[in-house]
Amino acid sequence: MKENVITVIMAAGEGTRMKSKLPKVLHQLCKKPIIDYVVDVSFEITKVTPVVVVGHGAEQIKEHLGDKVRYAYQYERLGTGHAVMMAQPYLDGFDGYALILAGDTPLIQAETLDGMIDYAVKGNYSAVALSAIMENSDGYGRIIRDKNGDFDRIVEHKDASREERKVKEINASMYCFEVPSLLDALKKINNDNAQKEYYLTDVLEIMKREGKKVGIYAVSDADEVLGINTRVQLAEAEKILRQRINQYHMLNGVTLIDPDNTYIGPDVEIGRDTVVYPGNMLEGKTKIGEECTLYPNSRIVNAVIGNHVDIQASVLLDCQIGDYTTVGPFAYIRPGTVIGKHVRIGDFVEVKNSTIGDGTKVSHLTYVGDGTIGEKVNVGCGVVFSNYDGEKKHRTIVGNNAFIGCNVNLVAPVEVEDGAYIAAGSTITERVPADSLAIARARQVNKEDWVKKRRAREE
Ligand code: UD1
Ligand code: CA
Repeated sequence: MKENVITVIMAAGEGTRMKSKLPKVLHQLCKKPIIDYVVDVSFEITKVTPVVVVGHGAEQIKEHLGDKVRYAYQYERLGTGHAVMMAQPYLDGFDGYALILAGDTPLIQAETLDGMIDYAVKGNYSAVALSAIMENSDGYGRIIRDKNGDFDRIVEHKDASREERKVKEINASMYCFEVPSLLDALKKINNDNAQKEYYLTDVLEIMKREGKKVGIYAVSDADEVLGINTRVQLAEAEKILRQRINQYHMLNGVTLIDPDNTYIGPDVEIGRDTVVYPGNMLEGKTKIGEECTLYPNSRIVNAVIGNHVDIQASVLLDCQIGDYTTVGPFAYIRPGTVIGKHVRIGDFVEVKNSTIGDGTKVSHLTYVGDGTIGEKVNVGCGVVFSNYDGEKKHRTIVGNNAFIGCNVNLVAPVEVEDGAYIAAGSTITERVPADSLAIARARQVNKEDWVKKRRAREE
């Protein structure tokens, strides 16, 4: 953790090549906006709150990031050099280094940036640019080295000669600058180039000409500096990140049967000896315990799941599941649901905003909405918690050890007390006292020989 480093994240560009209404940096990578990765990496490096330069889609970006960052406005997109100039009020008087990052380069790792900063500090560099070797360097700025192999300048693809375009070493658009030198050189750049923009890259050339020390810090893994300009690059980045995340979990003791078809978000945690089958999407802040089995094809978002839990082909959103519980196949667990230990939630069961106690079974074809169910309750097949009266939602409370027969309607608000039984097919509208049996359906009438008589009439 560094104290003398301030991060400036350039994110004002339109991202024209994405062909989208959404600002480029809000497009998602493994279900998380691109800009979040860059902001997160900044917080891994320095305690100083990062400055995000916004312009195109500023309001949307601000709404998303809120007050965890500070903002500089770039009203006209006049280039990356101009973007950093807009952050000057935050840089003035800052005694240390500015780490410049691009909002569209989310795969960068904190260790790499730490390495670049240490390199700048130890070598007394006024500026260090991060570079990488790319087989296909099209579109990137190229690093041009002098006869001694030192930094000479950076030339943008559009300004480059045919010879320069053959250079495979690219500028990653991430730099470490000594703040006073940066502010001084920024005053001296112009827009005399193919794109009529103020290039940040020119700052390094100016420093070099003025006799300052300018260095290059090469990353070994070019994937880290992949810039996202198109949806093709977005998909490439997604694949790289997914592999990185999946590898992390496998090395941590999680079995992924088919990592190419397993989608795990960057903030998901999974315990040891859990087995994940293909087709699972684990998103948001989901936390999965140890020795669980996720059979194929579930989507699990912001769920906290205990140990030894089995889940099959289900959707779980913003919920908690206790140890040794089984869910699915084809269950739908909706927000606000807390399910205890050793519970069975079977096929075609939907649970919404409900609490289910330990050892309870809800095995088939049931809707539990706004319910509070105690421990060791048996909810039969086809039970409906009728929670909505057309205007408001109401709660249903079911006590411990209750038995709800098949095809029962519980019309809320209603309470079934501990140990009570409800006969199949009942529609319950009133409290059921503890240990009693409620039957709320028409009594069966058998009319003997009724069919025989009708047949006789018809003949
Ligand atoms: C930039 C670099 C190039 C490098 C490449 C790496 C320059 C001149 N070029 O090119 O050398 O190889 O990144 O990915 O710096 N932005 C602003 N305001 C602006 C212009 C851009 O905030 O006026 C932001 C964009 O939102 C983006 C970042 O700066 O996040 C980079 O801009 P982009 O237009 O994508 O630059 P490249 O052409 O990719
Ligand atoms: Ca770019």
